[in-house]
Amino acid sequence: MGLYPELRGKKAVVSGATAGIGRSIATLLAGEGADVAAMGRDMERGTAVEAQLREMGTDSFFTCCEVSSPEEVDAAYKDAADRLGTVDILVNCAGGFPRPALVSEYSVADWDDLMNINLRSAFLLTRLALPGMVERKWGRVVNISSGAALTVSYLTSSIYAAAKAGMLGFTRHVAAEVAQYGVTVNATAPGLTMSERIAKIYTPEMTADRAKHIPMGRLCQPEEQAYTVVFLCSDRAAYITGVTISISGGMVSM
Ligand SMILES: NC(=O)c1ccc[n+]([C@@H]2O[C@H](COP(=O)([O-])OP(=O)(O)OC[C@H]3O[C@@H](n4cnc5c(N)ncnc54)[C@H](OP(=O)(O)O)[C@@H]3O)[C@@H](O)[C@H]2O)c1
Repeated sequence: MGLYPELRGKKAVVSGATAGIGRSIATLLAGEGADVAAMGRDMERGTAVEAQLREMGTDSFFTCCEVSSPEEVDAAYKDAADRLGTVDILVNCAGGFPRPALVSEYSVADWDDLMNINLRSAFLLTRLALPGMVERKWGRVVNISSGAALTVSYLTSSIYAAAKAGMLGFTRHVAAEVAQYGVTVNATAPGLTMSERIAKIYTPEMTADRAKHIPMGRLCQPEEQAYTVVFLCSDRAAYITGVTISISGGMVSM
């Protein structure tokens, strides 16, 4: 039994749903009874996510897509919309950060790749999803940005921070465009979250060191990011639009 009965039967597209935060979002949405098109590239993980979401009694499925490719996004979105019937909810979660480096060490190709995966991908999917939401006068878009867009607590990557900050401006502006149609567009800014990616990179020593910078003294779990995203998709959040919610254990900017 979910928390938000109005989400039962809703149709959702979640990018980056084969791992980490995105997979938790897809799982919680399915737990509310929504059917989810779970986007990602890894076939093995995608098939496993699909099986998990279907076992929860939903008509969810995996759809393979490289989000930096406009052609692949167009094809995957069309496939998802055809199979779902409509798209009520879009969560732009696909993304990731590059190797930490000083700005002068990045190439133009590094910049372009990073922008395409983290920022352009949200543009590509949002422009496809919004017309139907506007027509039906109900829709939810949630963009997964990053605490790196809001504050600097330790050095990660300037180009990642730029892409994720771009997402926040995009969120605010698009939210204003569609607010009158019952469509909300919001962002979350996760702090360090123990997703697959982080688990692969962080040793216990690194984790403990990073935790010292976090007022709550620990890293976030992926479900703790997903709870807020699902709330933003609910009717309880109908009057919230254009905002960024920091989910960071207290690592907020002044
Ligand atoms: N974890 C954190 O500490 C943290 C903090 C702030 C913000 N975030 C943001 O939260 C989001 C999820 O992060 P995560 O840590 O959960 O990452 P993760 O465990 O590495 O999962 C990333 C997801 O994005 C998909 N993805 C990545 N690049 C893609 C591409 N080019 N095309 C299609 N799909 C792609 C992956 O799919 P495949 O593997 O199937 O390709 C996977 O499903 C990202 O946008 C990240 O920037 C994370």
